Amino acid sequence: MKPIRKAVLPVAGLGTRVLPATKSIPKEMLPVFDRPAIQYVVDEARAAGIEHFVFVTGRNKSAIEDYFDTAYELESTLQGKNKSAILAELERNKPVPGSMSFVRQQAPLGLGHAIWCARDIVGDEAFAILLPDMLVQAQPSCLAQMVEAYDRVGGNLIAVEPCEDPSGYGIIDPVDRSGPLMKMKGMVEKPPRESAPSNLFITGRYILQPDIFDLLADQGAGAGGEIQLTDAMVRLMASQDFHALEYAGQSYDCGSKLGYLRANMAYALIDPEHGPAAAELVREFAGPS
Ligand code: G1P
Repeated sequence: MKPIRKAVLPVAGLGTRVLPATKSIPKEMLPVFDRPAIQYVVDEARAAGIEHFVFVTGRNKSAIEDYFDTAYELESTLQGKNKSAILAELERNKPVPGSMSFVRQQAPLGLGHAIWCARDIVGDEAFAILLPDMLVQAQPSCLAQMVEAYDRVGGNLIAVEPCEDPSGYGIIDPVDRSGPLMKMKGMVEKPPRESAPSNLFITGRYILQPDIFDLLADQGAGAGGEIQLTDAMVRLMASQDFHALEYAGQSYDCGSKLGYLRANMAYALIDPEHGPAAAELVREFAGPS
């Protein structure tokens, strides 16, 4: 089996749920503690062996492309001031030259359509998808846990975890839940709470075979009037193996204001330098117990 080398990161969304913060800044560039959210997602993918990143982007998103480029003036100023630690960090965060591609989704037709826009760059190989709204703290990284499972079972694989409100996510119908790696018999995008097949939601990390692209090409609109990746995956499930991995770790959904706040707190608390002081701040705001 060939290794998973490419990852698609759909970043074309307008970030309407976190306006006005996202009026002139891409939501993926909003800082989560001390770095843009997108940096965590790229780091997670790198830790899983991803070599090439395909960003599906849109208008007003050029800050993402600039972030991964050299910032000549900034870097030479930092050099002049002997700020070597931060310079080294900026250098570490830079991608290998030629390892990032940017393709545009010209109309907001849904996640399924966004992924389809990456088809020519991904080509004919299994690939990963990471939805950058979701930050995942896990060791090994969530995608690395998935790659390890994929090496054993092949086919298609998604990360899942329990949720309280299934109506906001893609929900899976597992065959049995005796272990963390399970076969599925169905998936549904944003089902009403009463009819959800389980409480396991799709975390926003996928390893898919390239056959998904042909299905996405003629996928009709689904939940919310959008072309849904989940609907195309259900069709792929008819002919290919599909597993869900209940990974070990914790996800943070930055797609809502409170989710974003929670992510900020979570990343501050695990920071080696500032974590203890951040915990003190949390206690201060919580007030006397
Ligand atoms: C998307 C997927 C959904 C998944 C979710 C995770 O929904 O369609 O299946 O559970 O991401 O964040 P969205 O958040 O784009 O509405």
